[in-house]
Amino acid sequence: MAKVKVNFVCSECGYDTPKWLGKCPVCGKWDTFKEFKESGVSGERLVSDFREPVALSSAGKIISQRVLSGFSEFNRVTGGGIVSGMVMLIGGDPGIGKSTLMLQIADSLIVKFSKIVYICGEENPDQIGMRAFRLGINTDKIILYPDTELSSFVKWIENEGADLIIVDSIQTVYNDKSDSFAGSVNQLKESTSLLTNLAKKKNIPVILVGHVTKDGAIAGPRVLEHMVDTVLYLEGDRYHNFRILRCVKNRFGSTNETGLFEMTEGGIKEVNDPSAYFIDNIGISRNGSAFTVTMEGSRPLIIEIQALVATSSFGTPQRNTVGYDHKKLSKLLAVLEKRGGLFIGNSDVFINVTGGIKVDDPGVDLAVCAALVSSFTNKNLPERMAFIGEVGLAGEIRSVSYIEKRVGEAIKLGIEKVVTSGLKERSDVYNITNIYELLDRIN
Ligand code: TYD
Ligand code: MG
Repeated sequence: MAKVKVNFVCSECGYDTPKWLGKCPVCGKWDTFKEFKESGVSGERLVSDFREPVALSSAGKIISQRVLSGFSEFNRVTGGGIVSGMVMLIGGDPGIGKSTLMLQIADSLIVKFSKIVYICGEENPDQIGMRAFRLGINTDKIILYPDTELSSFVKWIENEGADLIIVDSIQTVYNDKSDSFAGSVNQLKESTSLLTNLAKKKNIPVILVGHVTKDGAIAGPRVLEHMVDTVLYLEGDRYHNFRILRCVKNRFGSTNETGLFEMTEGGIKEVNDPSAYFIDNIGISRNGSAFTVTMEGSRPLIIEIQALVATSSFGTPQRNTVGYDHKKLSKLLAVLEKRGGLFIGNSDVFINVTGGIKVDDPGVDLAVCAALVSSFTNKNLPERMAFIGEVGLAGEIRSVSYIEKRVGEAIKLGIEKVVTSGLKERSDVYNITNIYELLDRIN
């Protein structure tokens, strides 16, 4: 018998809690919690997950059976492609390109897999067919499954089999036999558990596509991450073409790598030389603009940081950032004021990482400071200069990981001087230890 757990669910937004609450902490509505019985996870009822016990020495052999996709960037992020029986979650903002990427990856796998089943939850098969036509994909090895009810899907797979299952998206599938509300966190967990059991029992890899909600977690809370083997996020900005596929969890490999892609008219393409992608402006000196090199996995990426410091017309000055953390900006402004004597605090400040990418690498701090100083003092930074270093609260500049690799990349792409810390001073490197020295070097 499955364990029966009593739970309360908000009838407005589906938020569930073990205790009754008067006001829903998510949607803010009052008296919306209803009690319901969750009759165990339905996956247990539909798919038995019993497997034969095995000796440790013979376990794990299956992991070596990896299937490489036709996208080397995808293979890099996943640590060697698709493993049989694995469950992978790929999250991202709506419209970022998840369905496009999945369809292209599926197409690149048809040489290895003869039957790929694609559950069409977000769009109907005709819409997916039109996308495939646009991408030049035409195969009968990809089967579009038009229904989102999982118990009948599981039965269908048990009879028909599949080499790979793609669920687009996990938020749209549901199980008829479950008591949970459609769209609730419980329903989501049950669907994932059901598909995980299916994957493990039949040794079929399953890829779940999931939408990131406003607060940045897949399906509201990050409820699914612990249930799956691998979690990838497709990041980027809808108004730019650059996309980063980032791995945040991987039971079959490292999480250090990222895959770099570009959204084009003809679908998603790999970017094999990422730095070259952003170097258009090297050699052009603009006010408030500084170059730096960040690391994406093991690869250096040259980027441009722009700052604008302007007189504030309101009592409380604005702080506006795109691609850079708000709080980090406040910290750097405080350091520039306290340790560098620059009183930027009363002005409006805008920071923009160009190309639509997000950086939280501390190595870009110094470039943010240089861009701020340039805009505040209205002086352009020297041409072909880059800034790499972490800025501490005492105004000290710290060295960052892969510093030689970053400097090498900058020089390779046309930078002539790198201002950084932790390296010996040489013809292409200025070594500085604190924020005063930065002011010296750029003035
Ligand atoms: P999509 O894969 O539907 O995003 P998601 O599944 O993450 O919601 O991609 C949607 C966007 O991608 C849409 O705005 C159109 C754009 N796009 C291209 O730029 N090129 C293409 O070849 C395709 C198919 C889509
Ligand atoms: Mg989609």
